[in-house]
Parts: sequence; structure tokens; C-alpha cells
Amino acid sequence: MLVTVKELLVEAEKKQQAVGAFNVPNLESLRGVIQAAEELGVPVIIQHAEVHENLISIEEIGPVMVEFAKRANIPVAVHLDHGATLEECVKAVRLGFTSIMYDASLKSYETNVKETTELVKIAHSVGVSVEAELGEMTNSTVGGGEGRASDASDFGNVDLFTNPQQANEFIQNTGVDSLAISFGTVHGKYLAEPNLDFERIESIRKTTSKTPLVMHGGSGVSAADYRKAIAAGIRKINYYTYMNLAAGESAKKVLINSQQDELFFDELSLDVTSAIKENVIEALKIFNGLN
Ligand code: 13P
Repeated sequence: MLVTVKELLVEAEKKQQAVGAFNVPNLESLRGVIQAAEELGVPVIIQHAEVHENLISIEEIGPVMVEFAKRANIPVAVHLDHGATLEECVKAVRLGFTSIMYDASLKSYETNVKETTELVKIAHSVGVSVEAELGEMTNSTVGGGEGRASDASDFGNVDLFTNPQQANEFIQNTGVDSLAISFGTVHGKYLAEPNLDFERIESIRKTTSKTPLVMHGGSGVSAADYRKAIAAGIRKINYYTYMNLAAGESAKKVLINSQQDELFFDELSLDVTSAIKENVIEALKIFNGLN
């Protein structure tokens, strides 16, 4: 059933869990994610990132995402990830997305506040909630995709991390419903073991009176670190690169092991769907405290 991100985050706060939010730029990932959540009986967020417009446009995948959400037997929210333009945010709202992220985190603090405030007014007027980002999340140089291209030397740079006092001021001024924070994760494949600043999450949670906090660059983090981040106050975990990698690796195996002269794409499509499902099941179990 189609629900709002807001209600999922309220429930996650009550249970001290995190909701998994997965990018789904093709049918294999969309089906794999929904099947994983249904098998475990847990809620899930499916999201389209504006940078994935080169893979599939929001006009193509958006209505399919909303339809899958409506038909699922678990609560599913449909979210725009890293909306960078007003146009994409408005398109998402018109297509029936239940929340949007407006990401002006690379602009000056003042511009981020000004533009996000405008977006919040528009989105709230039609009952859509807004996530914003404060502090800089970099991309690793390998396989990043939803953030920005950046040099891996930024990795773990505390100067880019979210400041707790500024986070509170930002939320008060803009009225956002949730906040993506920078505390050591990166988009893409980790080039070294991430060194996450859990105290910073706790401190932001305190200064922002428990506003739901979002972890981007969520895939590739250890189970122990997910648990610590959730205990510190993370309520939504954005996850993509490592499920994408699981799909690619699985397709590679099928190709290498194929003894036939011909390989039909159907076989690959089914194999990739189940590789994504298995990868997402493992993540969802941890996020929902099931193991
Ligand atoms: P990863 O691709 O690093 O898991 O990050 C996903 C994400 O943060 C989407 O916004």
C-alpha cells in the first residue's frame, strides 16, 4: 500500500529502527526490492534519483513505482532522491510521489536555506514531505551515482560533516521533515573502511529535537556500524551501490558459466532480480532489527 515517508519515519522512531530506502532505476531493482520487503513483512521506501535520469526518466519509472507501491502488501513510500531542480521536484509531486528530497547542499548555506524553504512551502501545500541535506556528502570515485563526482581525498573529511547547531537552525528556518547528514559515509563503493562519527549523529539528534536523520551512502557499511548509527538516531538509510554491484556480479557469473552458444536475456533478468532481492533482504533485516 502507498504511504508517506513521514508515517514510516514516525513508526521507525517509535521502534528505534531505520527504514530502508532503495534506488530503483530499472524493473529488476524495483521488483527485487518490493519482493524483499514483502518476504520480510517490513515497510520500505523506493526512490528515483535525479542523476538516474540518464538510465530512465521519472516520467517512465515514476508511474510504475507508484503502481508497485499501491499493489504491495507492505507499506511502501515513493520518494524523489537528490532532487536538484524545482522542475524535477514538481514532476515527482504530480506523479504521486509521497516525498521529495531537495538537495542544495553544495550551494551556500544561505542559498540552501532560501531554496529549501520555498520547496517546503510548495510540497507541504499538497501534503508531500521534504528531506534536505546539510553538510557535504562526497562520492567515492568508484560507482557513485546519486551524489556528486568528487575526489576520494574528501573521504572522511570532518570539515564537510554536518554541524549540530547549524542543523537545528536549518530545520527551524526551512521547516523540513527530515535531514540528510554528513558523518563519514560516501556515495559509491568504499575505498577504505568508513570511519563514522556516531557522536555527531547523537549530538545532531539532541539539538534537532529528534528530527528524523537520514544516512546517505548507506550501502557497504558493516552490520555493526548500521546498528550503532540507528541507535544514535538514523531513521532512514539510503542504499544503492552494493545492490547494484550484487546484480552486476551475479550477471557476470551467469555469463561466465553459460555453456550454451546463446544466452537469452530473460535468464539474466530473473537472475539479477533475485540477486538484488537477496542483497536487500540482508540490509532490511539489520535496519528492522530482525537479526
Ligand atoms: P550508495 O549508492 O552509496 O549506497 O548511496 C545511496 C544513496 O545515498 C542514495 O541517495
